[in-house]
Amino acid sequence: MSKILVTGGAGFIGSNFVRMVLLGSDHEVVNVDALTYAGNLENLTDVERHQRNTFVRADIADPAAMDQVFAEHRPDVVVHFAAESHVDRSVIDATAFVRTNVTGTQVLLDKSRIYKVQRFVHVSTDEVYGSLGPWGYFTEETPIQANSPYSASKAGSDLLVRAAVHTHHMDCIITRCSNNYGPFQFPEKLIPLMIANALEGKKLPVYGDGRNVRDWIYVTDHCEGIRMAMEHGKAGEVYNFGGDAERENIFVVKEILRRLGKGEDLIGYVKDRPGHDRRYAMDSSKARATLGWTPRHTFEAGLQKTLDWYVANKPWWERVRSGAYQAYYEQQYGRR
Ligand code: NAD
Ligand code: DAU
Repeated sequence: MSKILVTGGAGFIGSNFVRMVLLGSDHEVVNVDALTYAGNLENLTDVERHQRNTFVRADIADPAAMDQVFAEHRPDVVVHFAAESHVDRSVIDATAFVRTNVTGTQVLLDKSRIYKVQRFVHVSTDEVYGSLGPWGYFTEETPIQANSPYSASKAGSDLLVRAAVHTHHMDCIITRCSNNYGPFQFPEKLIPLMIANALEGKKLPVYGDGRNVRDWIYVTDHCEGIRMAMEHGKAGEVYNFGGDAERENIFVVKEILRRLGKGEDLIGYVKDRPGHDRRYAMDSSKARATLGWTPRHTFEAGLQKTLDWYVANKPWWERVRSGAYQAYYEQQYGRR
């Protein structure tokens, strides 16, 4: 049994990972999250009282706060999800992206070295590789060519992790994954936004010509990959994860409408995202061959599970859209 310090465990992927670890292993979890707009403890209500779960509200870019966390909890492993994660927000203002994604990652690397953490797993993204034309795939050898302020800040964090391996001989692993979807995703990202808008009869804003391509992966398949990389990955290595599910955005949007029984008149084409990457596609053969990982969900099965979840959990996303979810921390833990 290991003690895993999970950063960003109140976010979308982090909360799915925390649940998987608590319910599927005997590891202990210390979940460190600042609870920004994207952090939601209502993502974890089913496991929040689990005896191997501890929650700490703290900012990863605050060295004094992190020192306190590492000194008190002495983690064996760090799995680092915490980030500003939404590309459109980074186009408007990149300040928080640089602070959390770059400075925050370095603070965690420093504390991990000082407190002799055995392994540091850095959760990164396919977006650091840039954009593809109609053919080809990103491999772990593809040069970093980040295009948005978000992906540039993630690329910066990847390079800091690489430097920690090279300079300080730290045991770090970088995972890079394609577009996740599934339960508890904040309804600003394509799939949950389109589902929630369709269910409320609102317009579905499709950027540009709608023909940009993403490789969709069901969130628990990504979480399994991270767990396998954490447990069996080789120090200093990068692992790509993708869902083998390349789809044009307009296909995804029409499929959501079709499955919800709504008309395509809800689709509204809007101005394109500045610098919009055209296509992402992952070659995950290294993770398959060396970790024995494989995504379990087809896009069709994963999308249906996701639709069912958002239909059944309307109060969850209504509380996110109204802002009511932000009072949950104070209700449970008192004022900060
Ligand atoms: P998210 O935005 O849903 O969650 C981010 C979490 O980090 C939130 O709980 C937030 O409160 C927390 N956080 C933000 N700033 C913090 C700070 N300064 N200190 C402590 N906590 C802070 O993000 P997500 O979609 O779950 O993504 C998680 C990680 O996975 C990110 O690193 C992201 O780059 C990466 N990733 C995401 C995807 C995807 O499709 N969503 C794909 C590949 C990689
Ligand atoms: O590829 C991995 C990345 O996937 C992660 O690193 C990011 O954290 C995550 O946000 C996601 O980035 P994208 O920009 O690809 O995801 P998003 O859901 O914002 O957009 C998906 C596609 O849909 C993209 O081509 C833009 C388009 N889009 C998005 C929104 C929010 C629309 O057409 N309309 C929209 O309203």
